[in-house]
Amino acid sequence: MLKIVTVVGARPQIIKAAALSRAIRNSFSDQIEEIIIHTGQHYDANMSQVFFEELGIPNPHINLNIGSASHGKQTAQMIQEIEKVLLTEKPDFIVLYGDTNSTLAGAIAASKIHIPIVHIEAGLRSFNKSMPEEINRIMCDHASTLLFVPTATGIKNLEREGFSTTNKAPYSSDHQGVFHCGDIMFDNLVHFSEMAGQKTDIMHSLHLQENDFVLCTIHRDNNTDSPERLNQIISAMCYIEENLHLKIVIPLHPRTSKIIESNLPEDLYNRLKSNKNIHLIPPVSYLEMIMLEKNSFLVLTDSGGVQKEAYFFKKPLVVARPETEWVEIIENGAGIIADADELKIIESVKYFSEAGELDFPNVFGNGHAAEFICRTMLEHRT
Ligand code: UD1
Ligand code: UDP
Repeated sequence: MLKIVTVVGARPQIIKAAALSRAIRNSFSDQIEEIIIHTGQHYDANMSQVFFEELGIPNPHINLNIGSASHGKQTAQMIQEIEKVLLTEKPDFIVLYGDTNSTLAGAIAASKIHIPIVHIEAGLRSFNKSMPEEINRIMCDHASTLLFVPTATGIKNLEREGFSTTNKAPYSSDHQGVFHCGDIMFDNLVHFSEMAGQKTDIMHSLHLQENDFVLCTIHRDNNTDSPERLNQIISAMCYIEENLHLKIVIPLHPRTSKIIESNLPEDLYNRLKSNKNIHLIPPVSYLEMIMLEKNSFLVLTDSGGVQKEAYFFKKPLVVARPETEWVEIIENGAGIIADADELKIIESVKYFSEAGELDFPNVFGNGHAAEFICRTMLEHRT
């Protein structure tokens, strides 16, 4: 039996982990034993528990309940606690997703005690080291033994940093296995997309029609913690509703929600709150989210996962960041980088209102990344 310890903590990691747990349950239950550690980085029910229930992920075996704190304090506490679990469980691999502080903590804890790291969503780069995520993902990639890369750009990024993508087994953290396997989030969309329409009522409860709204999510610290940037994004949303007559739906990350309530200038706050066609709602479940994505006219976001999901559902994308790791979306003309620039956001929405049909060639794989990862881990246990 191959024993893996999976670390999750933030919302998108719980969602990604659902795909791997499902593959293990369906096809590898007699060969892979998975132990899930939840760091507790996200802890509100609608940022964590809802996904375990809805996506059928086994409850975490261990919840470290670390919660929110400064980067250093949060990461340090996680390292300390993850190390204890690894020393007890002695897994063949630790499995880490993406680029959060939970990812980095898992990578540091495991690498120091020589537990091989599997990094899923490896190779992504924004080339902007002021993002905490960029540091986390670079450090995790460089400590990993097996790197599972969603896109061709991810492979190029790793080659640029000196990784060899042609290494032969046996692999180690000094001789890494790099695999281009497609995006594990796509596995979930393929699996849950049909079900979302049957199991959710969100379109009806918000009185939305197909294509009559823009779906927005904003949570990056450089947007929420900069009043200037947040004001520009919110002003753009108000303008889009008032002048382009598209409703706006914003499932609010708790970070953003707190800042809107405490920091937005009064006139902008009133403009936002008094508009009945701007739905500021709490975070929604995954099935509700993909229902909103599927039916939106356009997606405006600074989220990594939501950018890709917009593309999967063939929706135009406006990225409220200065750059993206998912460059294929922009190169294919399905997205525009507008940063937190009010005018650019508005112009981008106008552009897509008038653009004809867009092209969405498949760049994210075949929806079976999780099975590939399971087979590869079994083949290359060290
Ligand atoms: C984290 C990740 C980010 C990822 C995002 C996914 C890092 C450095 N950042 O950002 O890469 O895109 O998760 O959503 O790991 N809060 C709550 N309830 C919760 C969770 C958070 O109220 O359940 C609030 C707290 O005020 C907290 C703030 O949100 O301080 C930020 O949470 P944190 O996990 O530190 O960062 P995210 O912005 O969620
Ligand atoms: N998501 C969700 N409910 C929400 C907002 C997002 O289920 O209210 C899902 C979304 O569909 C995607 C993931 O959360 O699968 C993206 O997570 P997030 O935007 O928090 O983080 P990022 O991907 O930027 O790291």
